[in-house]
Amino acid sequence: MSNPAKPRLLTGDTPTGRLHLGHWVGSLENRVALQDRYECYFLVANSHAFTTRAERPDEIRQSVLDIATDSLAAGIDPARSAIFVQSEVPAIAELTFFFAMLLPFNRVMRNPTLKEEIRDKGLGDTYPFGFPLYAVGQTADILAFRPEVVPVGEDQLAHLEMTREVARRFDQLYCGVDPATEDDAYVARGGLFPVVKPLLGRVRRLPGTGAPGPDGTLLKMSKSLGNAIFLSDDAATVERKVMGMYTDPARKRATDPGRVEGNPLWIYHETFNRDAAWVAEHEEAYRNGQVGDVAVKRKLVEVLNALLEPIRERRRALEARPDTVIDVLRDGTRRANAVTEETLALAKHALRQDFLPRRKLDLG
Ligand code: TRP
Repeated sequence: MSNPAKPRLLTGDTPTGRLHLGHWVGSLENRVALQDRYECYFLVANSHAFTTRAERPDEIRQSVLDIATDSLAAGIDPARSAIFVQSEVPAIAELTFFFAMLLPFNRVMRNPTLKEEIRDKGLGDTYPFGFPLYAVGQTADILAFRPEVVPVGEDQLAHLEMTREVARRFDQLYCGVDPATEDDAYVARGGLFPVVKPLLGRVRRLPGTGAPGPDGTLLKMSKSLGNAIFLSDDAATVERKVMGMYTDPARKRATDPGRVEGNPLWIYHETFNRDAAWVAEHEEAYRNGQVGDVAVKRKLVEVLNALLEPIRERRRALEARPDTVIDVLRDGTRRANAVTEETLALAKHALRQDFLPRRKLDLG
């Protein structure tokens, strides 16, 4: 675990429900693969979930357990990687306060991801103070681990940019790093925090199984839009969702020429079907009205269920040992605290506020 040769990786999720295929291609498959090369820390951002659901704590609690279960079922190996609970890592909250002083208020409010969320979730001007604060908190989630890479979806890039600004500002102000320093060289020049790099997933935006939005563009797969295939769906549910999915609305029968571009059925095949020759051949046949939707959907059911079956099997094993998830969170949180307490001590030293060195945190 504490193999010093391995650089650290940090990423996380706000617990808003079970994970689906969009999470898988956007990030999860990447995480599973990166466990070999990095010492991985996967944060469950339960404190952030209170920004929009403060009145539903039970739901947030359940979502934390669901995300941890889904991650383990998907192949995160708890012997190597830490899955941890944000609210049990006090260094994150403490760093948030100091980092909040390094970002002008107007800079935070200009963060495009926050603006989009305010618009898309219809938050108007009624959102809590903690809503913009979460973006500052996210800079602390990340920098507390001084990671080499941060795998995220495209929607998180604005938060990563803010994180990079905090790192530069802190290192310049408190570690004497020259502002002319290249981003890659901050730590080598005496900075505490690296100017972190985002790592995008293979697929940036997987459409859902439903019809497009009012402007004709395909909607992103999302639990709240009811267009998701979940990692926890059983084989029959996957079949029902795929057989009922939106394809080319202009196509009435199998002999009509079909549209491949922008057709979710083909986007899914291109994303999940490893048999590229099959896909190319059948796309051609589809264009020429030589293969029906039903046959192509059946094949997709097969492909998706083959992907999900090992995940289901690991889930069954987890369900047979109900304490596993909480044990994994306890161990992961202990490991996260070991790293972040060290960062916090170094940060307080740099801030000249290292009056009372702290003893070890007592957890679980
Ligand atoms: N904001 C991220 C999301 O909603 C979750 C998150 C919180 C995160 N802290 C993070 C992601 C730190 C990467 C790094 O998906």
